[in-house]
Amino acid sequence: MLVEGPASRELCDKISEQTGKETVKVKSKVFPDGEIYVKLKGDVEGKNCTVVQTTYPNQHLLELYMIQDALKENGAASIDVMVPYYAYARQDKIFEEGEPISARAFAKRIEMDADNFYSIDLHSEKIVDFFDIPAENLSAMPLLARYSKEKDPDILFSPDEGGVERVKKAAEELQMQWDYLEKTRIDANTVEIKPKNIDVGGKSVVILDDIIATGGTMTEAAKQLKKAGAEEVHAGCTHGLFAGDAVEKLEKACDSVFCTDTIEQEKSQVSVAPLFADVIERFE
Ligand code: R5P
Repeated sequence: MLVEGPASRELCDKISEQTGKETVKVKSKVFPDGEIYVKLKGDVEGKNCTVVQTTYPNQHLLELYMIQDALKENGAASIDVMVPYYAYARQDKIFEEGEPISARAFAKRIEMDADNFYSIDLHSEKIVDFFDIPAENLSAMPLLARYSKEKDPDILFSPDEGGVERVKKAAEELQMQWDYLEKTRIDANTVEIKPKNIDVGGKSVVILDDIIATGGTMTEAAKQLKKAGAEEVHAGCTHGLFAGDAVEKLEKACDSVFCTDTIEQEKSQVSVAPLFADVIERFE
């Protein structure tokens, strides 16, 4: 059975359509004092259950814990957890003394009531090692690559060196060239950002990243590519957080902006449902 977390209702319905699995809805509400409430709207006793729930923003993280507890309490035979966007993944190590490893802290809570964990384009691959249950990181890059074809790109780009493995996966899917933007410090006050290897003059470029949060990284990358002569620059990501005025900024700097439905919203042009459906069908 699929358990439809309040953060991922449409995605869960798509997974259900693709796999033919029955779904259990979850009622959720926020009390006037800000505390939240969830209730399973179906019988899960003795059933193998798969919860689909993104953990952003914070309320959805708490809902996930509560749903897992409710499944255990109501006799689910097994609990698999599919988290399309795993929040707090960027705090996957201690940057400054006194900090937690947030990505690990939440993994520890999730695994308390779970048999398997799946997520998509985790900010860092090492997050799967924070789980003591089987954990798998799926990639939406081939799906984003196929959607990118609509933009008729000449080349795919990562906005920085850290995203190279991701963009390589997308480029393999389209059998296409890829590159990344390299930052070079010229002096204390000057940083130069430019394409590492390929001349983008007159070309159409799709930049792909895992996360767009404030849009700062992607906007800067788009500006630099246009400065380097790119004709068109499109921006795509797996997880569209789009904080504050991110969309506005991106729409000024890029020719189009798109993301997947790991966080359901207006810019979700690509569904990750096939990735989770494949996992479910693997166990048939
Ligand atoms: C950074 O390592 C990530 O891959 C993203 O590039 C980053 O989180 C994007 O954040 P923002 O949109 O705030 O620049």
